[in-house]
Amino acid sequence: MEFLNVLNNRRSVRSFSNQPISDKDLREIVEQALLAPSWENTQPWKVYIAGGNTLKNIKQQHLQYSKDKVRSNPEMPIMHYNQWAKDSVHNIDQWNSDINNFLGDESDEVGDVQFKLFNAANIVYLTVPKNSSSWSIYDLGAFGQTLMLSATNKGIDSIPAYALVKYPDIVRKNIDIPDDQMLVMGIALGYRDTSKINDFESKRMNLDDVLKIEK
Ligand SMILES: Cc1cc2nc3c(=O)[nH]c(=O)nc-3n(C[C@H](O)[C@H](O)[C@H](O)COP(=O)(O)O)c2cc1C
Repeated sequence: MEFLNVLNNRRSVRSFSNQPISDKDLREIVEQALLAPSWENTQPWKVYIAGGNTLKNIKQQHLQYSKDKVRSNPEMPIMHYNQWAKDSVHNIDQWNSDINNFLGDESDEVGDVQFKLFNAANIVYLTVPKNSSSWSIYDLGAFGQTLMLSATNKGIDSIPAYALVKYPDIVRKNIDIPDDQMLVMGIALGYRDTSKINDFESKRMNLDDVLKIEK
C-alpha cells in the first residue's frame, strides 16, 4: 500500500468480524514492528499474542469483570480525568461528544464494544521490564504504532486500547508473562465488521495549534 494510504487507513476499529488472522501475518506484523527505534537500541519490548481458546477465556472473564463492575487495576498507573492538562481535557470532552453524537441511539455501543474486547481476532499485549526508564514507554509507543501501520498495510484493522489491559490479572491468568515484565498496553487486531461505530473518525487538532517553526 502507498505510505499515505497506510497512514490514512489506520483508524481505531472497535468491532471486528469473526475472520481469523493467519499466524504468518501475525509474525510478519511483529517482525516489521521490530524496526521501530529505541533508546540506544534497547529494544525493551516483549510481545504476547492471545488467540484461539486463550483469547476466548480472556474475553469471557473480561466480560464477567465488566458486568460485576470490578475496579480496574492497570500495571501502568492512570491519571484521573481532572489531572490531565487543560487542552487534553478539552480533547477528551470533544471526542466523547463527537462519538456519542455520531452514534445517536446506539451510543451505548461505545461501552458495549469494550466489554466484548471489540470481538478481536487477536490481542497483542506489549510489555517492558518493570524497572524500565520512561524512555522505554516512549519506545514502546513507537513499536505499537509501527505494528499497527504494518497491520494496516496488510488490510488488518486495529485499536490500541487501555480497555485491553485494565484487568492484568485476567491476562496473566491466561498468558505466562514473567513477573518482572510490566503489562503496558494492548492492541486488538482483526478485520472490521459493518457496525456503525467503525465509521466514526476521530478529529485532529489544527496543525497550527500544534506546530511552531522558529527561524
Ligand atoms: C494509549 C491509548 C489508549 C486507548 N484506549 C482506548 C480504549 O480503552 N477504548 C477505546 O475505545 N479506544 C481507546 N483508544 C483509541 C483512541 O480513542 C483513538 O486512538 C483516538 O480517538 C484517535 O482515533 P484513531 O485511532 O481512530 O485515529 C486508545 C488509544 C491510545 C493511544
